[in-house]
Amino acid sequence: MMNIRSHGRKKAAGLMATFLLAFGMACQAEPDAGQKNTASRWASLPVLDFRDTISGDPLDFNGLVDYDDQPEVETDAVKEFKRTGRNPYNDDDAAIKFGGVRYSTACSGCHGHHAEGKLGPALADDYWTYPKNATDKGLFETIFGGAAGQMGPQRNRLTQDEILKIMSWTRSIYSGDPARAEWKQ
Ligand code: HEC
Repeated sequence: MMNIRSHGRKKAAGLMATFLLAFGMACQAEPDAGQKNTASRWASLPVLDFRDTISGDPLDFNGLVDYDDQPEVETDAVKEFKRTGRNPYNDDDAAIKFGGVRYSTACSGCHGHHAEGKLGPALADDYWTYPKNATDKGLFETIFGGAAGQMGPQRNRLTQDEILKIMSWTRSIYSGDPARAEWKQ
């Protein structure tokens, strides 16, 4: 009796294993399974420590508002960026194009239409007053929190999502040494 029952259980377990294997393979074949994994990879990460470029104080992300004076809702791109330090818009043509348009109204007056430098320094070469701007985290900190003199914080002048798009545009016209493009590494 015992033997038959335990044999039955073994058989059932074997069937179950076959089923799980087949099911698992089917899941892997689903086209969006990879994407879900990518999203969950960053969603569980803690937000990185963002610091003011001049003072070194933590950046204050409280009380941000959008153009309707409503609390700014973070886009997925902003959430991902704040956890990985990588700008998801860097290879996104539509975001780069939008960033170029926003750059021309918000930044070009001081940095030049092609980011070649004017009152403020060039933004597309590989010389940085603040070396951390060669990383996307550092560049975001400088734009959001500002630097010295006329480089005021863009906090609440642009949404965080717009800042990322402007950054992707300046990166897209980068003319410096590829080896010094730290944001790609
Ligand atoms: C009113 C003029 C003005 C505007 C507008 C302005 N900047 Fe600046 N920016 C400056 C000046 C001046 C500096 C140099 C400040 C310093 O060295 O601390 C600077 C510095 C910077 C730096 C640091 C560069 C380095 O070499 O490390 C970055 C990055 C930057 N600006 C990005 C932007 C972006 C992006 C915008 C638009 C969203 C913008 N700035 C708008 C004047 C401006």
